Amino acid sequence: MDLKALIRDIPDFPKPGILFRDITTLLRDPAGLKYSIDTLAAKVADLHPEYIVGMESRGFIFGAALAYKLGIGFIPVRKPGKLPADVHCVEYALEYGTDKLEIHQDAVAPSCRILIVDDLIATGGTAAATAKLLQEIGANLVGCAFVIELDALNGRSLLPDVPIISLVHY
Ligand code: PRP
Ligand code: HPA
Repeated sequence: MDLKALIRDIPDFPKPGILFRDITTLLRDPAGLKYSIDTLAAKVADLHPEYIVGMESRGFIFGAALAYKLGIGFIPVRKPGKLPADVHCVEYALEYGTDKLEIHQDAVAPSCRILIVDDLIATGGTAAATAKLLQEIGANLVGCAFVIELDALNGRSLLPDVPIISLVHY
């Protein structure tokens, strides 16, 4: 299936000069959504993850569907102040300034096999921060999976040495 045909390009969003890859048009297409999840599931099966960690908010959509497909649990990584129990927090650099991501302290047992899932990897800052959170709590990161990878930004260079799977490259 041609996933690129279902991903809409929006020029100058959210800022002038950025060509935004819009996955809402993929999500609303039943065959495209099913193909995305089924293909991700086939590509990560041999990593044998025990949990999927997905990042707010678009990582929740693909991550939760993939967890359901694989018959495993889903763990959210959220923007600050959203998770109700005790959290681990990581601060990471943005183009201008910093941001934070949080995970529940008791979400992952040490040595648990974790797959990170997000809709898109751009600079890699979000996925790298999530990998750092998981490292701090002693989880075993077995791979990262994305629907879209923006190759020119080389975000994967910030990630640990684990398999990195992307369905579509721009
Ligand atoms: C987008 C995207 C990834 C991240 C990728 O999320 O869904 O999580 O940016 O960029 P990076 O590789 O440069 O870190 P965004 O922060 O826009 O949040 P949203 O999913 O809530 O829209
Ligand atoms: N599309 C969607 N999300 C993004 C992009 C993009 O091009 N860059 C960073 N997050």
